[in-house]
Amino acid sequence: MNKKERNSFTGSIGFVLAAAGSAVGLGNIWRFPYLAARDGGGLFLIIYLILALTFGFTLLITEVSIGRKSKQSPLTAYGVLSKKWKPLGILACIVPMMIMPYYCVIGGWVVKYFLAFLTGAGVQAAEDGYFTRFNTDTSTPIGMMIVFLFLTMVVVLGGVDKGIEKFSKIIMPLLVVLILFISIYSLTISHTDDAGVTRSGLEGLKILFIPEEGSATFQNVFSTTMDAMGQLFYSLSVAMGIMIAYGSYMKDDINLSKSVGQIEVFDTGIAFLAGVMIIPAVYVFMGREGMQASGPGLMFVSLPKVFLQMGKMGNVIGCLFFAMVLFAATTSAVSILEAIVSSFMDGFHMERKHATLLEGVIALILGIVVCLGYNKFYFEITLPNGAVAQVLDIMDYVSNNLLMPVVAIGTCILVGWILKPEYITAEITRNGEKFGRRGLYVIMIKYVAPVMLLALLLKATGIV
Ligand code: PHE
Repeated sequence: MNKKERNSFTGSIGFVLAAAGSAVGLGNIWRFPYLAARDGGGLFLIIYLILALTFGFTLLITEVSIGRKSKQSPLTAYGVLSKKWKPLGILACIVPMMIMPYYCVIGGWVVKYFLAFLTGAGVQAAEDGYFTRFNTDTSTPIGMMIVFLFLTMVVVLGGVDKGIEKFSKIIMPLLVVLILFISIYSLTISHTDDAGVTRSGLEGLKILFIPEEGSATFQNVFSTTMDAMGQLFYSLSVAMGIMIAYGSYMKDDINLSKSVGQIEVFDTGIAFLAGVMIIPAVYVFMGREGMQASGPGLMFVSLPKVFLQMGKMGNVIGCLFFAMVLFAATTSAVSILEAIVSSFMDGFHMERKHATLLEGVIALILGIVVCLGYNKFYFEITLPNGAVAQVLDIMDYVSNNLLMPVVAIGTCILVGWILKPEYITAEITRNGEKFGRRGLYVIMIKYVAPVMLLALLLKATGIV
């Protein structure tokens, strides 16, 4: 596509909110709080923060810079950087194509629960077996997925400034207000269980923030670092082309490193708040044992039970909670779709409308297969990392645990060793901006990040 015709975000706020919208997603809400509680509270948080400022920052700023410099989609950007590295672009485009269908299926689950709480049926949603009954049904999950996919397509069809930016500018502030409100509420509750034990939200907060005594052993620090790194990598939406696509819509006069810093603060802030929202509430009503669940188990089984126990407020809080999750999930899905649409537009000279429809149909077909993976096509296999998997888990494993680290390692080698880090730092400082973390950046992209990513990849394959 001609550079002059390329859509762009109107300014730095539009870019930051759209990118933060991508970064803030299910990972922040259903995985971060659980990992923090499991890995010794404060220890995890400290390691996560350090990694966010070094490792996360490096990967994120690299991708945004590649996008802005090349003004190309993920599919075509790597080829512009270096002809020989074109195949990496293909891989960076396949990743979002794999993620899109199952992300929409999960988005559909959120729609279902939002509607349940909205219509006052939260009590049923909290019953044992409700999630499995819904999930194994052959039609409702498909219908809900279609609603979610349609919503996402409408935003992307609107274009970069009038669709994605406008949507993010409305949704992200709303998300912040909702999560703040529920977090504060969560801290004010207390409950006495059948055994006469009273637990309060504030006590639950200690589990999240205060490092467990004796938690800083070498073994613990190592495994916590691996957990934090995996989480961070996923949470910042790197290695799947998204940040390249969004960077390509960023105006040249915007301070790039400042904007990337803001995205990080946003993403990490929301993750911490999600912890404040979830950990105390689960602790109050379910005790420490209740904190065993993460992922779908936490969101669709444990939390509805917690809302139910809140009494009269339960349905309201449940409804607000699922509205918030829906906001977080749609802005992420929009970014996945945009990475693909921009690739089709730049790589195959398609119009936005046609590109969106084409990917919509692909996601629909694969999404149906994912839904049927829980009934008609049911099977169980064990993945190399030990997890028992269905279609959804396999797609998640291949994209997140295998392909994404490969794309990220490839990007580090290309930028750190072939193009040299100056290629990126020149883009960051193109308007004479200061780049305070320059030295750190060079060391990270050349040495530290690729080694850490390799460790992540080896761990996922079960080799170490
Ligand atoms: N970064 C999002 C999160 O933290 C997840 C995501 C995955 C977003 C894939 C876009 C694409 O949940």
